Amino acid sequence: QAIVKVAVRIFFVLGASGDLAKKKTFPALFNLFRQGFLHPDEVHIFGYARTKISDDELRNRIRGYLINDKNASPEHVEKLSKFLELIKYVSGSYDSEEGFRLLDKEISEHELSKNSVEGTSRRLFYLALPPSVYPSVCKMIRNFCMNRSDLGGWTRIVVEKPFGKDLESAEQLSTQIGELFEEPQIYRIDHYLGKELVQNLLVLRFANRFFLPLWNRDNIDNVQIVFREDFGTDGRGGYFDEYGIIRDIIQNHLLQVFCLVAMEKPVSLKPEHIRDEKVKVLQSVLPIKDEEVVLGQYEGYRDDPTVPDQSNTPTFATLVLRIHNERWEGVPFVLKAGKALNSRKAEIRVQFKDVPGDIYKCKKQGRNEFVIRLQPSEAMYMKLTVKQPGLEMSTAQSELDLSYVQRYQGVTIPEAYERLILDTIRGDQQHFVRRDELKAAWEIFTPLLHRIDDGEMKPLPYQPGSRGPAEADELLAKAGYVQTHGY
Ligand code: BG6
Repeated sequence: QAIVKVAVRIFFVLGASGDLAKKKTFPALFNLFRQGFLHPDEVHIFGYARTKISDDELRNRIRGYLINDKNASPEHVEKLSKFLELIKYVSGSYDSEEGFRLLDKEISEHELSKNSVEGTSRRLFYLALPPSVYPSVCKMIRNFCMNRSDLGGWTRIVVEKPFGKDLESAEQLSTQIGELFEEPQIYRIDHYLGKELVQNLLVLRFANRFFLPLWNRDNIDNVQIVFREDFGTDGRGGYFDEYGIIRDIIQNHLLQVFCLVAMEKPVSLKPEHIRDEKVKVLQSVLPIKDEEVVLGQYEGYRDDPTVPDQSNTPTFATLVLRIHNERWEGVPFVLKAGKALNSRKAEIRVQFKDVPGDIYKCKKQGRNEFVIRLQPSEAMYMKLTVKQPGLEMSTAQSELDLSYVQRYQGVTIPEAYERLILDTIRGDQQHFVRRDELKAAWEIFTPLLHRIDDGEMKPLPYQPGSRGPAEADELLAKAGYVQTHGY
């Protein structure tokens, strides 16, 4: 793989001692470093958090996250030591002028100690923090930590969901951040946009003659976008209970996938052209009908001491989105997400209509279906009717199967965060959520969320390890989905 030097001088992880930094940000940075995408002469990483620890303590903690029995080869250990040398730590609170001034001083010294050439002050702030502190942190960065104008360069910030809790709070947050930074400086991460098969969606749709004429209401009967996890809230009950499955998964991850499946062809691959089309399709979504929503909560969820005894928060939801445009009128898009289900899987299922004038009685075999499995074991396959091999003329359903492990043996599929962090460094906003996109996403879900929050809609109980409430399968059948073998 070619070594691409990236244009960044300093990378900051704010909230450096937290869970996100530990599980995602540092591992992704290390992987980029290991593969040569972050060059030691170009990059320096500062952690900033409230905990009072030394540089070495932070390094030791990070070492602990990045090494285990399986990857402790001498080469790995050596790379890791080199990576850790790039990391420094500054402690301070998230609204302390003093802390951010200190951070700026440290960074400036570092920038000036390198050869001061044009554009060497490039500062990327990754806010691995709870959104409640975004406004104050952004203000501190704006006031005390912007890139040095004498050295040129840029400042960017990366923020994680949840971006608000509903339309109003999201808009308020966007306005607060928007007063401090321009849109091209703001990278709103949705890690589903970094997944290999999500990145493949536009290629599939717009670079293949197969799909171009079929991808519409004349041929497609219904679409499902499904996320299942086979574990519960696992120690995150406090956070989760405030948000619920719609805000945690559907309003962002599944809706982003929905956009890529349903949007029109962009004028070009420029990030703005792609994001324009995403906004348009979101704005064409009709209000969600109560009768097209099934909510669930797994039994035992409220046993978590951080979850209130009377919690009404859904851990499961199936709902139908309908698009009011020429391509999709009448085609239900079923979005389904649940925790503590029978398997861990994320997939898109595009089910085609029955064959007209069906002389082979294909209907009894099941419909044509195109399935894109985002995880685990990335794959895409088409279910189609074929002649059963042999002397008899009978038909059966079979699959055209592109499984990534078999087809791309030896190719490592990058982690979503790795790819997206690299994009933030390169300044490519294609796979990040634009402000108007976020607003349109909240517009779709806010009325429903308010009804749930007000207790007007209640989740149905379901057994952990099940498929979720049976009513969700009934809704799916009503939306037109015909069960095929093996689903
Ligand atoms: C996160 C959610 O955004 O995505 C979690 O907050 C969820 O609740 C996770 O478990 C799923 O991500 P992935 O990549 O494992 O499917």
